[in-house]
Amino acid sequence: MKATRAGGQTMIQIVLERESDVPLYRQIVARLHALIRDGALAPGTRLPTIRQLAQELRLTRLTVHTAYTELQAQGLIESVVGRGTYVAATRPASLAANPAPHMPAMLPVWHARDLLSEVALSERPGLIALTHAIPAPETYPLRELRRAFAAALAHPEALTYGTAQGEPPLREQISRLLLERGLAVPPELVLVTSGAQQAIAVALRALTRRGDVILAEAPTYPRFIELVTRRGQQLVGIPRGAQGLDLEALEAACATYRPRLLYLVPTFHNPTGTSLGVQQRAAVLRLAATYGFVIVEDDIYGLLAHDGPAPPPLKASDEGERVVYLTSFSKALAPGLRLGALVAAPHLLPDLAEAKQAADLVSSPIAQLAVAEYLRRESFGAHLQRARELYRERRDIALAALDRYLPGCTWTHPEGGLSLWVTLPEGVNERDLFLDALDRGVGVTRGQAFFAQPQARAYLRLCFGAQPPAQIEEAVRLLAEALRAQLRRATVSALHAGRAVSPLV
Ligand SMILES: Cc1ncc(COP(=O)(O)O)c(C=O)c1O
Repeated sequence: MKATRAGGQTMIQIVLERESDVPLYRQIVARLHALIRDGALAPGTRLPTIRQLAQELRLTRLTVHTAYTELQAQGLIESVVGRGTYVAATRPASLAANPAPHMPAMLPVWHARDLLSEVALSERPGLIALTHAIPAPETYPLRELRRAFAAALAHPEALTYGTAQGEPPLREQISRLLLERGLAVPPELVLVTSGAQQAIAVALRALTRRGDVILAEAPTYPRFIELVTRRGQQLVGIPRGAQGLDLEALEAACATYRPRLLYLVPTFHNPTGTSLGVQQRAAVLRLAATYGFVIVEDDIYGLLAHDGPAPPPLKASDEGERVVYLTSFSKALAPGLRLGALVAAPHLLPDLAEAKQAADLVSSPIAQLAVAEYLRRESFGAHLQRARELYRERRDIALAALDRYLPGCTWTHPEGGLSLWVTLPEGVNERDLFLDALDRGVGVTRGQAFFAQPQARAYLRLCFGAQPPAQIEEAVRLLAEALRAQLRRATVSALHAGRAVSPLV
């Protein structure tokens, strides 16, 4: 769905899902609503006539007429007799306040390309990079892993292709480890993947089709946005803020779009570091049962609680077998192992295993056997304990530095994971601030990377896991300098703007 102008005429491309349960006129309403709300159709823009749109979409005029009538009733468009139909000159208040889910266009090109190349700018040597959600390299248990790899090499299967579902010793260890998260899962229901990223890709491939609507939190993990949009699927963002997930918006999205899948990072969410409460988790499960969608629960940070125990995963209460659960060794052990796992109901597993095999045949058997050895022989519990303490300390340093230095912002207080989320003062230009911070020697990730749609508000993600305390503090101080400089510039240009309209005396 998109709006373009060709020869002064606004052309609207709307993709309809003809097999969907959602009536076609409702689909037109939803798509035009999103285009108007996101500014792709500006106030005063002339819309195609009912006849034109009906012809273009191969629909009856009555269907388009019904859609236009509803949009008119919502105050989004207006008809001028004898002249045509236009986007309303004034935005109705309901558009701003209404958390109605949106049906976004394909991911804009700038998202995939420019934002990712911006991240590459943070690779500069000497920069304090709070850019990546990666573990502290000093936590990697090198000696123990060396021993485990040596032992793994003694296995006859270590250097062959291995088994598609994953090496049995690793599946056994993962099954044991999942007990820590309150999940009793037999090894037969564990599918080993090459990291959580592959688990997500496999779930999308096995459980969704082109044209499906997919839901995710907004903000969410950027590579999920990328995966969905590269598959040509529609991604609808459900706001996730200080109160958790906006359940009303979720229900409205379910009713409107009949989504196939909801991707959720309920525990120590990337980017905010926050978790959904127990009641919200139960409500999401109820909605999944009512509307018949699958939940992909990404629990990659679930073992990295800083304070108390992590909340139990949705999968632990998944009586309707709607949750595909995934985890990874990337954050809790080391990302270079490229190992993760997916757990699903028996009837879903064959398709998931097939999609995994189509992607890369098997995950590295030597790495799998080594991690299985490591988990069997070494003290992963003690490793996790040390890592959690280290991240708690770094989080506290980051929070104290934000309190001390950062003017006019709010931020999340993560109880686990590797990142926190800063909401910048209104009027701040996120990209300028990002570039200014880079100039001063600090790398962060811009909020926009975590949304499928352009955002009016500016945010930053700060990852505190991989930098020592002094560097975290210094990074926040430099970031605050950059922010103050930007706020000063904004004030000066506002003053200039004021002067330009006052008479010169
Ligand atoms: C929420 C989330 N899911 C998945 C991944 C990918 O992890 P992996 O390295 O296991 O593929 C990441 C990495 O940052 C992540 O933050």
